[in-house]
Amino acid sequence: MSKGKCILAYSGGMDSTISVVWIKEKYDLDVITLTVDLGAGPEIEGVEKRAREAGAIDSVILDVKNEFVNEYIFPALKAGAMYEDVYALSTALARPLMSKKIVETARKFGAEFVSHGCRGKGNDQVRFDASIMTLAGEGESIKIIAPAREWGMTRDEEKEYANKAGLELREVGENNRVYSIDRNLWGQAIEGEDLEDTWVQPPEDAFSWTSSVENAPDSSEIIELGFEKGIPISLNNKKMNGVDLIDSLNITAGKHGIGRVDHLENRLVGIKSREVYETPAAIILYTAISALETATLSREQQRIKSNLSKIYSDLVYDGRWFTLLRENIESFMNSVQEFSSGEVKLKLYKGNVTVIGRKSKYSLYDYDMSTYSTTDSFNHQSAEGFIDIYSLPSRIQAKKQKFNDL
Ligand code: ARG
Repeated sequence: MSKGKCILAYSGGMDSTISVVWIKEKYDLDVITLTVDLGAGPEIEGVEKRAREAGAIDSVILDVKNEFVNEYIFPALKAGAMYEDVYALSTALARPLMSKKIVETARKFGAEFVSHGCRGKGNDQVRFDASIMTLAGEGESIKIIAPAREWGMTRDEEKEYANKAGLELREVGENNRVYSIDRNLWGQAIEGEDLEDTWVQPPEDAFSWTSSVENAPDSSEIIELGFEKGIPISLNNKKMNGVDLIDSLNITAGKHGIGRVDHLENRLVGIKSREVYETPAAIILYTAISALETATLSREQQRIKSNLSKIYSDLVYDGRWFTLLRENIESFMNSVQEFSSGEVKLKLYKGNVTVIGRKSKYSLYDYDMSTYSTTDSFNHQSAEGFIDIYSLPSRIQAKKQKFNDL
Protein backbone atom coordinates (compact mmCIF):
# COMPACT_ATOMS: atom_id res chain seq x y z
CA MET A 1 0.00 0.00 0.00
CA SER A 2 1.40 3.39 -0.90
CA LYS A 3 2.04 5.82 1.89
CA GLY A 4 -0.03 8.89 2.57
CA LYS A 5 1.34 12.20 1.41
CA CYS A 6 2.12 15.38 3.23
CA ILE A 7 2.77 18.77 1.64
CA LEU A 8 5.26 20.62 3.80
CA ALA A 9 5.78 24.37 3.51
CA TYR A 10 9.53 24.46 3.15
CA SER A 11 11.85 27.42 3.49
CA GLY A 12 15.07 25.49 3.63
CA GLY A 13 15.63 26.80 7.17
CA MET A 14 16.36 24.76 10.26
CA ASP A 15 12.82 24.10 11.51
CA SER A 16 11.45 23.11 8.16
CA THR A 17 14.40 20.90 7.26
CA ILE A 18 14.11 19.03 10.55
CA SER A 19 10.39 18.74 9.87
CA VAL A 20 10.99 16.63 6.75
CA VAL A 21 12.84 14.03 8.81
CA TRP A 22 10.43 14.26 11.71
CA ILE A 23 7.21 13.83 9.67
CA LYS A 24 8.63 10.74 7.98
CA GLU A 25 9.63 9.25 11.31
CA LYS A 26 6.60 10.16 13.34
CA TYR A 27 3.76 9.90 10.81
CA ASP A 28 5.25 7.54 8.24
CA LEU A 29 4.21 9.78 5.37
CA ASP A 30 5.84 10.70 2.09
CA VAL A 31 6.88 14.32 2.29
CA ILE A 32 6.60 16.67 -0.67
CA THR A 33 8.12 20.03 0.08
CA LEU A 34 6.57 23.21 -1.23
CA THR A 35 8.79 26.25 -1.43
CA VAL A 36 6.94 29.42 -2.21
CA ASP A 37 9.29 31.98 -3.69
CA LEU A 38 8.23 35.29 -2.19
CA GLY A 39 11.35 37.07 -3.28
CA ALA A 40 13.74 36.08 -0.54
CA GLY A 41 16.69 36.10 -2.91
CA PRO A 42 19.36 33.41 -2.60
CA GLU A 43 17.19 31.41 -0.20
CA ILE A 44 15.66 29.49 -3.08
CA GLU A 45 19.00 28.34 -4.41
CA GLY A 46 19.75 24.78 -3.42
CA VAL A 47 16.38 24.38 -1.73
CA GLU A 48 15.41 21.32 -3.75
CA LYS A 49 18.73 19.66 -2.93
CA ARG A 50 18.29 20.36 0.78
CA ALA A 51 14.75 18.99 0.72
CA ARG A 52 15.78 15.79 -1.01
CA GLU A 53 18.78 15.34 1.26
CA ALA A 54 16.44 15.55 4.22
CA GLY A 55 14.32 12.84 2.61
CA ALA A 56 11.53 14.54 0.62
CA ILE A 57 10.20 12.51 -2.32
CA ASP A 58 9.42 15.60 -4.35
CA SER A 59 10.08 19.30 -4.16
CA VAL A 60 7.82 21.94 -5.66
CA ILE A 61 9.00 25.52 -6.08
CA LEU A 62 6.49 28.20 -7.01
CA ASP A 63 7.43 31.73 -7.99
CA VAL A 64 4.62 33.87 -6.59
CA LYS A 65 6.44 37.20 -6.41
CA ASN A 66 4.09 39.06 -8.72
CA GLU A 67 1.00 37.68 -7.04
CA PHE A 68 2.47 38.57 -3.64
CA VAL A 69 3.13 42.14 -4.69
CA ASN A 70 -0.07 42.82 -6.60
CA GLU A 71 -2.58 40.98 -4.45
CA TYR A 72 -1.12 41.25 -0.96
CA ILE A 73 1.61 43.88 -0.59
CA PHE A 74 0.08 46.67 -2.67
CA PRO A 75 -3.43 46.31 -1.22
CA ALA A 76 -1.83 46.50 2.25
CA LEU A 77 0.19 49.53 1.22
CA LYS A 78 -2.93 51.22 -0.11
CA ALA A 79 -4.61 50.42 3.18
CA GLY A 80 -1.76 51.92 5.20
CA ALA A 81 -1.33 48.63 7.05
CA MET A 82 1.42 49.07 9.65
CA TYR A 83 0.94 46.85 12.68
CA GLU A 84 1.37 48.88 15.86
CA ASP A 85 2.52 51.72 13.61
CA VAL A 86 5.91 50.15 12.85
CA TYR A 87 5.71 46.65 11.38
CA ALA A 88 4.97 46.44 7.67
CA LEU A 89 3.51 42.93 8.11
CA SER A 90 6.01 41.28 5.79
CA THR A 91 5.60 37.85 7.35
CA ALA A 92 1.90 38.20 8.11
CA LEU A 93 1.04 39.09 4.50
CA ALA A 94 2.92 36.11 3.12
CA ARG A 95 1.08 33.50 5.18
CA PRO A 96 -2.34 33.64 3.50
CA LEU A 97 -0.75 33.40 0.05
CA MET A 98 1.39 30.47 1.19
CA SER A 99 -1.67 28.80 2.68
CA LYS A 100 -3.47 29.18 -0.62
CA LYS A 101 -0.58 27.51 -2.45
CA ILE A 102 -0.38 24.74 0.17
CA VAL A 103 -4.06 23.91 -0.30
CA GLU A 104 -3.76 24.03 -4.10
CA THR A 105 -0.69 21.77 -4.03
CA ALA A 106 -2.38 19.30 -1.68
CA ARG A 107 -5.29 19.08 -4.09
CA LYS A 108 -2.93 18.60 -7.02
CA PHE A 109 -1.00 15.76 -5.37
CA GLY A 110 -4.01 14.24 -3.65
CA ALA A 111 -2.34 14.77 -0.28
CA GLU A 112 -4.41 14.39 2.84
CA PHE A 113 -1.89 16.10 5.10
CA VAL A 114 -0.29 19.52 4.99
CA SER A 115 2.36 20.86 7.28
CA HIS A 116 4.14 24.02 8.32
CA GLY A 117 7.13 24.56 10.56
CA CYS A 118 5.50 26.95 13.02
CA ARG A 119 5.81 26.72 16.75
CA GLY A 120 3.05 26.75 19.30
CA LYS A 121 3.83 30.22 20.55
CA GLY A 122 3.73 32.32 17.47
CA ASN A 123 1.28 34.07 15.23
CA ASP A 124 2.19 32.13 12.13
CA GLN A 125 0.61 28.86 13.28
CA VAL A 126 -2.66 30.74 13.69
CA ARG A 127 -2.36 32.38 10.27
CA PHE A 128 -1.59 29.10 8.51
CA ASP A 129 -4.13 26.97 10.32
CA ALA A 130 -6.93 29.52 10.09
CA SER A 131 -6.25 30.22 6.40
CA ILE A 132 -5.90 26.57 5.43
CA MET A 133 -9.03 25.58 7.33
CA THR A 134 -11.00 28.44 5.76
CA LEU A 135 -9.79 27.69 2.23
CA ALA A 136 -10.11 23.91 2.45
CA GLY A 137 -13.75 24.18 3.43
CA GLU A 138 -15.90 21.84 5.42
CA GLY A 139 -16.18 18.85 3.08
CA GLU A 140 -12.48 18.52 2.32
CA SER A 141 -10.29 16.32 4.50
CA ILE A 142 -7.03 18.19 4.82
CA LYS A 143 -5.28 17.59 8.13
CA ILE A 144 -2.63 19.91 9.47
CA ILE A 145 0.60 18.70 11.05
CA ALA A 146 2.70 21.29 12.84
CA PRO A 147 5.90 19.45 13.81
CA ALA A 148 7.57 22.28 15.73
CA ARG A 149 4.38 22.70 17.77
CA GLU A 150 4.23 18.99 18.53
CA TRP A 151 7.84 18.05 19.15
CA GLY A 152 8.49 20.53 21.93
CA MET A 153 12.24 20.77 21.31
CA THR A 154 14.24 23.77 22.45
CA ARG A 155 16.50 25.53 19.96
CA ASP A 156 19.51 23.66 21.28
CA GLU A 157 17.72 20.32 21.09
CA GLU A 158 16.77 21.13 17.53
CA LYS A 159 20.39 21.85 16.67
CA GLU A 160 21.29 18.51 18.18
CA TYR A 161 18.49 16.69 16.33
CA ALA A 162 19.70 18.25 13.08
CA ASN A 163 23.26 17.17 13.77
CA LYS A 164 22.17 13.62 14.48
CA ALA A 165 20.16 13.51 11.26
CA GLY A 166 23.25 14.75 9.42
CA LEU A 167 21.59 18.00 8.38
CA GLU A 168 23.79 20.97 7.73
CA LEU A 169 22.55 24.23 9.25
CA ARG A 170 23.21 27.31 7.27
CA GLU A 171 21.82 29.84 9.71
CA VAL A 172 24.81 29.67 12.04
CA GLY A 173 26.25 33.17 11.94
CA GLU A 174 29.08 34.91 13.73
CA ASN A 175 29.56 33.87 17.35
CA ASN A 176 27.52 30.77 16.56
CA ARG A 177 24.32 32.80 16.74
CA VAL A 178 21.30 31.23 15.08
CA TYR A 179 18.61 33.82 14.62
CA SER A 180 15.16 32.80 13.57
CA ILE A 181 14.63 34.70 10.36
CA ASP A 182 11.62 34.94 8.12
CA ARG A 183 12.37 36.71 4.91
CA ASN A 184 10.58 37.82 1.77
CA LEU A 185 10.58 40.69 -0.68
CA TRP A 186 8.67 42.94 1.74
CA GLY A 187 11.07 42.50 4.62
CA GLN A 188 12.78 40.23 7.05
CA ALA A 189 11.82 39.44 10.61
CA ILE A 190 14.63 38.51 12.95
CA GLU A 191 14.10 36.90 16.32
CA GLY A 192 15.90 34.95 19.00
CA GLU A 193 19.38 34.71 20.51
CA ASP A 194 20.53 37.96 22.17
CA LEU A 195 17.42 39.77 20.94
CA GLU A 196 15.35 37.97 23.56
CA ASP A 197 16.78 40.38 26.14
CA THR A 198 14.84 43.56 25.47
CA TRP A 199 17.66 45.68 26.89
CA VAL A 200 20.37 44.35 24.58
CA GLN A 201 21.08 46.44 21.51
CA PRO A 202 20.57 44.27 18.41
CA PRO A 203 23.99 42.95 17.43
CA GLU A 204 25.19 44.10 14.03
CA ASP A 205 25.21 40.51 12.72
CA ALA A 206 21.42 40.39 13.07
CA PHE A 207 21.15 42.70 10.06
CA SER A 208 21.88 41.84 6.48
CA TRP A 209 19.80 44.24 4.34
CA THR A 210 20.62 47.54 5.97
CA SER A 211 23.83 49.23 6.89
CA SER A 212 24.27 50.83 10.28
CA VAL A 213 23.83 54.57 10.48
CA GLU A 214 27.59 54.82 11.10
CA ASN A 215 28.39 52.97 7.89
CA ALA A 216 25.75 54.64 5.75
CA PRO A 217 27.07 57.05 3.09
CA ASP A 218 27.98 60.55 4.23
CA SER A 219 26.06 62.13 1.39
CA SER A 220 22.31 62.09 0.93
CA GLU A 221 20.38 60.73 -2.04
CA ILE A 222 17.17 62.14 -3.45
CA ILE A 223 14.66 59.83 -5.08
CA GLU A 224 11.30 60.38 -6.77
CA LEU A 225 8.47 57.91 -6.57
CA GLY A 226 5.45 57.96 -8.91
CA PHE A 227 2.05 56.61 -7.85
CA GLU A 228 -1.13 55.77 -9.68
CA LYS A 229 -4.29 55.31 -7.62
CA GLY A 230 -2.18 54.56 -4.56
CA ILE A 231 0.08 52.04 -6.33
CA PRO A 232 3.78 52.84 -6.85
CA ILE A 233 4.60 52.70 -10.55
CA SER A 234 7.90 54.50 -11.07
CA LEU A 235 11.23 55.26 -9.46
CA ASN A 236 13.12 58.33 -10.59
CA ASN A 237 10.71 58.69 -13.52
CA LYS A 238 11.41 55.19 -14.75
CA LYS A 239 8.35 52.94 -14.93
CA MET A 240 8.91 49.71 -13.02
CA ASN A 241 6.91 46.66 -12.12
CA GLY A 242 6.21 46.18 -8.42
CA VAL A 243 8.72 43.41 -7.79
CA ASP A 244 11.62 45.30 -9.38
CA LEU A 245 10.64 48.53 -7.71
CA ILE A 246 10.58 46.96 -4.25
CA ASP A 247 13.85 45.11 -4.90
CA SER A 248 15.54 48.25 -5.99
CA LEU A 249 14.20 50.32 -3.07
CA ASN A 250 15.37 47.67 -0.61
CA ILE A 251 18.89 48.07 -1.94
CA THR A 252 18.93 51.88 -2.13
CA ALA A 253 17.22 52.49 1.21
CA GLY A 254 19.11 49.66 2.91
CA LYS A 255 22.39 51.25 1.84
CA HIS A 256 21.35 54.45 3.66
CA GLY A 257 20.53 52.52 6.81
CA ILE A 258 16.77 52.98 6.42
CA GLY A 259 14.33 50.26 7.44
CA ARG A 260 15.60 48.92 10.76
CA VAL A 261 12.81 48.43 13.26
CA ASP A 262 13.25 47.24 16.84
CA HIS A 263 9.85 46.49 18.28
CA LEU A 264 8.39 44.93 21.38
CA GLU A 265 5.33 43.47 19.83
CA ASN A 266 1.94 42.24 21.01
CA ARG A 267 1.42 38.79 19.63
CA LEU A 268 -2.00 37.39 18.92
CA VAL A 269 -1.33 34.53 21.34
CA GLY A 270 -1.10 36.99 24.21
CA ILE A 271 2.61 37.37 24.82
CA LYS A 272 4.97 40.19 23.95
CA SER A 273 7.98 39.41 21.81
CA ARG A 274 10.99 41.41 20.76
CA GLU A 275 11.10 41.58 17.00
CA VAL A 276 13.69 43.17 14.82
CA TYR A 277 12.74 43.92 11.25
CA GLU A 278 14.46 45.12 8.14
CA THR A 279 11.90 46.61 5.80
CA PRO A 280 13.66 49.35 3.81
CA ALA A 281 11.36 49.45 0.76
CA ALA A 282 8.24 49.27 2.90
CA ILE A 283 9.31 52.22 5.07
CA ILE A 284 10.03 54.31 1.99
CA LEU A 285 6.77 53.41 0.27
CA TYR A 286 4.61 54.01 3.35
CA THR A 287 6.28 57.36 3.90
CA ALA A 288 5.74 58.30 0.27
CA ILE A 289 2.10 57.24 -0.04
CA SER A 290 1.23 58.97 3.21
CA ALA A 291 2.80 62.15 1.89
CA LEU A 292 0.84 61.92 -1.34
CA GLU A 293 -2.39 61.34 0.59
CA THR A 294 -1.87 64.58 2.48
CA ALA A 295 -2.40 66.25 -0.88
CA THR A 296 -5.05 64.04 -2.46
CA LEU A 297 -7.37 63.17 0.45
CA SER A 298 -9.66 65.44 2.38
CA ARG A 299 -9.23 65.70 6.12
CA GLU A 300 -12.22 63.42 6.76
CA GLN A 301 -11.00 60.84 4.25
CA GLN A 302 -7.60 60.84 5.97
CA ARG A 303 -9.18 60.32 9.39
CA ILE A 304 -11.52 57.52 8.32
CA LYS A 305 -8.76 55.85 6.36
CA SER A 306 -6.45 55.94 9.34
CA ASN A 307 -9.10 54.37 11.59
CA LEU A 308 -9.71 51.59 9.08
CA SER A 309 -5.97 51.09 8.58
CA LYS A 310 -5.66 50.04 12.20
CA ILE A 311 -8.49 47.53 11.88
CA TYR A 312 -7.06 46.25 8.61
CA SER A 313 -3.54 45.79 9.99
CA ASP A 314 -4.89 43.89 13.00
CA LEU A 315 -6.87 41.64 10.64
CA VAL A 316 -3.76 40.87 8.61
CA TYR A 317 -1.65 40.34 11.72
CA ASP A 318 -4.28 38.15 13.35
CA GLY A 319 -4.55 35.71 10.45
CA ARG A 320 -7.91 36.99 9.26
CA TRP A 321 -6.95 37.63 5.66
CA PHE A 322 -9.64 35.36 4.28
CA THR A 323 -12.56 37.30 5.69
CA LEU A 324 -15.21 39.41 4.09
CA LEU A 325 -14.37 42.29 6.43
CA ARG A 326 -10.85 42.48 4.96
CA GLU A 327 -12.39 42.66 1.50
CA ASN A 328 -14.89 45.28 2.64
CA ILE A 329 -12.11 47.51 3.94
CA GLU A 330 -10.16 47.02 0.73
CA SER A 331 -13.14 48.27 -1.25
CA PHE A 332 -13.03 51.45 0.79
CA MET A 333 -9.25 51.75 0.30
CA ASN A 334 -9.55 51.30 -3.48
CA SER A 335 -12.18 53.97 -3.55
CA VAL A 336 -10.35 56.39 -1.27
CA GLN A 337 -7.14 56.07 -3.32
CA GLU A 338 -8.91 56.80 -6.62
CA PHE A 339 -7.11 60.15 -6.91
CA SER A 340 -3.82 59.27 -5.20
CA SER A 341 -1.79 59.67 -8.37
CA GLY A 342 1.29 61.84 -8.50
CA GLU A 343 4.89 62.12 -7.39
CA VAL A 344 6.70 62.26 -4.09
CA LYS A 345 10.29 63.41 -3.61
CA LEU A 346 12.28 61.94 -0.73
CA LYS A 347 15.69 62.46 0.76
CA LEU A 348 17.54 59.41 2.12
CA TYR A 349 20.27 60.09 4.62
CA LYS A 350 21.82 58.22 7.54
CA GLY A 351 18.86 56.06 8.52
CA ASN A 352 16.26 58.73 7.77
CA VAL A 353 13.78 59.22 5.00
CA THR A 354 12.44 62.75 4.71
CA VAL A 355 9.67 63.92 2.44
CA ILE A 356 10.88 66.99 0.56
CA GLY A 357 8.18 67.37 -2.09
CA ARG A 358 4.83 66.08 -3.30
CA LYS A 359 2.64 66.89 -6.30
CA SER A 360 -0.47 65.59 -7.98
CA LYS A 361 -2.83 66.88 -10.62
CA TYR A 362 -5.59 66.03 -8.14
CA SER A 363 -3.94 67.80 -5.23
CA LEU A 364 -6.39 69.58 -2.94
CA TYR A 365 -3.70 72.08 -2.09
CA ASP A 366 -4.78 75.29 -3.79
CA TYR A 367 -1.90 77.73 -4.09
CA ASP A 368 -4.06 80.86 -4.33
CA MET A 369 -6.06 79.79 -1.30
CA SER A 370 -3.00 79.02 0.80
CA THR A 371 -0.55 81.73 -0.19
CA TYR A 372 0.21 84.88 1.82
CA SER A 373 1.33 86.66 -1.36
CA THR A 374 -0.66 89.05 -3.56
CA THR A 375 -2.49 86.29 -5.45
CA ASP A 376 -4.24 85.33 -2.19
CA SER A 377 -7.88 84.53 -3.01
CA PHE A 378 -9.01 83.37 0.42
CA ASN A 379 -11.92 85.46 1.66
CA HIS A 380 -10.61 86.88 4.94
CA GLN A 381 -13.87 88.71 5.68
CA SER A 382 -15.96 85.57 5.59
CA ALA A 383 -13.69 84.10 8.30
CA GLU A 384 -15.33 86.41 10.85
CA GLY A 385 -18.82 85.07 10.18
CA PHE A 386 -17.50 81.52 10.14
CA ILE A 387 -15.90 81.90 13.58
CA ASP A 388 -19.04 83.56 14.95
CA ILE A 389 -21.15 80.50 14.14
CA TYR A 390 -18.38 78.01 14.80
CA SER A 391 -17.90 79.22 18.38
CA LEU A 392 -21.64 79.50 19.08
CA PRO A 393 -22.08 76.19 20.96
CA SER A 394 -19.17 76.83 23.36
CA ARG A 395 -20.31 80.42 23.98
CA ILE A 396 -23.85 79.34 24.76
CA GLN A 397 -22.62 76.62 27.05
CA ALA A 398 -20.29 79.02 28.84
CA LYS A 399 -23.23 81.35 29.46
CA LYS A 400 -25.68 78.72 30.69
CA GLN A 401 -23.39 76.29 32.48
CA LYS A 402 -20.31 77.00 34.55
CA PHE A 403 -17.43 74.66 33.76
CA ASN A 404 -13.97 74.52 35.27
CA ASP A 405 -12.02 76.80 32.97
CA LEU A 406 -14.38 79.74 33.25
N1 ARG B 1 6.40 38.77 14.57
C1 ARG B 1 6.23 38.71 13.16
C2 ARG B 1 4.85 38.28 12.82
O1 ARG B 1 4.22 37.64 13.61
C3 ARG B 1 7.28 37.91 12.46
C4 ARG B 1 7.44 36.48 12.82
C5 ARG B 1 8.42 35.87 11.90
N2 ARG B 1 9.14 34.79 12.35
C6 ARG B 1 10.48 34.77 12.58
N3 ARG B 1 11.04 33.64 12.56
N4 ARG B 1 11.19 35.83 12.81
O2 ARG B 1 4.38 38.57 11.76
